[in-house]
Amino acid sequence: MSEVDWESLREKAIEASRRAYCPYSDFPVGVAGVTTDGRVFTGCNVENASYGVGLCAECGLVSALHLGGGGLFAAVYCVGGDGQALMPCGRCRQLLWENGGPACLLMTPEGVLPMSQILPQAFGPDDLATRSGH
Ligand code: THU
Repeated sequence: MSEVDWESLREKAIEASRRAYCPYSDFPVGVAGVTTDGRVFTGCNVENASYGVGLCAECGLVSALHLGGGGLFAAVYCVGGDGQALMPCGRCRQLLWENGGPACLLMTPEGVLPMSQILPQAFGPDDLATRSGH
């Protein structure tokens, strides 16, 4: 994976946020990610009248990744309705961990950080393999 084009990812995340379905929170979120082999996917949040089942933008992003052939994200940019970097919620950090791993880069309000710093000591697939106790 060559140098990440953060500005292009941000533009795609903003574009995705314009498709958000968020009549309940009025808080649009868009996210864009590029895979280690250069494919770009996006997602937006999709809310529901049954509030608790609303989908974060990252859910759509991860679904798009798998529909598009799978793989791992190398870099992800999530934005709020203000177009600025937005930190993924705790649940979505777990989603990004599974689909990007510790080296995946995330744009944050404090600059670019690896997922290993966004979700330290993360639970992941390795734990399932090594920590079941049998
Ligand atoms: N939201 C996301 O889409 N991603 C996040 O990481 C944080 C929160 C959405 C969920 C809900 O539709 C709205 O933002 C307000 O919480």
